[in-house]
Amino acid sequence: MERWIDPAQAARWCASADERGLAVGFVPTMGALHEGHLELVRRAARENDAALVSVFVNPLQFNDPADFERYPRDFDGDAAQLEAVGCTAVFTGDTTGFFGTADLARVPRADPGPAARGLEGEHRPGHFEGVATIVRRLFQIVRPTRAYFGEKDFQQTLVVRHIARALGYPEVVVCPTSREPSGLARSSRNTRLDELERARAAAISAGLAEAQRAWRAGERDPAALEAVLAASLARAGIEPEYAAVRDPHHWTGRERPAGPLEQAQALVAARIGAVRLIDNLRLDGPLLRREVVS
Ligand code: PAJ
Repeated sequence: MERWIDPAQAARWCASADERGLAVGFVPTMGALHEGHLELVRRAARENDAALVSVFVNPLQFNDPADFERYPRDFDGDAAQLEAVGCTAVFTGDTTGFFGTADLARVPRADPGPAARGLEGEHRPGHFEGVATIVRRLFQIVRPTRAYFGEKDFQQTLVVRHIARALGYPEVVVCPTSREPSGLARSSRNTRLDELERARAAAISAGLAEAQRAWRAGERDPAALEAVLAASLARAGIEPEYAAVRDPHHWTGRERPAGPLEQAQALVAARIGAVRLIDNLRLDGPLLRREVVS
């Protein structure tokens, strides 16, 4: 596996791969890799001639400076995991390497599009503009055939599709959320949870599963589905930043859609101790399976 510490090296390799007609699958990450990331890389390797991964803790997308400081970083550990799953090359770099300047104020921002409004966009001002800016930059560096993203960050996938549409490439592939046996969605931030917090965090996916059961029992009204979700979270003592039900195909970030729904995505953000977690579930999708330990 190739390892580059400057995005310019990645750009050179990718330009030559393009000339050779290789299909490149690309997985952008912020490192501190876990099984969820590795699933994306395995799939990128399977479906393309080469699989490329970027590791960059992008300062532009952190609305909370303390969260940026505390974000776990372990490039050597990440590289070792990537090597084992068939990754062709991994690259990283500093702010100058990615944006051509160390002065963040001078970096031209990308428009994240209408899907950035509401929910994450409202609770993390500037976050999606930062995501859109780095994703556009990464796409320009790599010019991938396909890029792989996790449904775990559902609203982010809508922003990424907006960027890919504007550029005219790549094909965006969205992969299912990888979960721990408890149902807890895997996240780099989970390493900051203690044992008790980890058990409480599992209640987020339990709430989503309960909303899914209501859907399967025939409930189609978004307000009623949100009430099921809110009640489940409240029983676990979780006060979410939001617990919302949206139509994934007709995204209305700011307001709840008028019911009844034909398809539904339930989305939650909540603080467990000092850690902010997000999760979501397609209610008309595959069953969320959890091992309940009591
Ligand atoms: P990061 O949080 O490192 O995630 C990188 C990719 O892995 C994203 O597409 C994310 O949705 C996916 N992912 C994370 N946890 C997952 C899980 N449990 N199951 C499936 N996929 C999962 O998302 C980012 O980084 C950044 O915003 C980035 C796109 C790299 C731009 O900086």
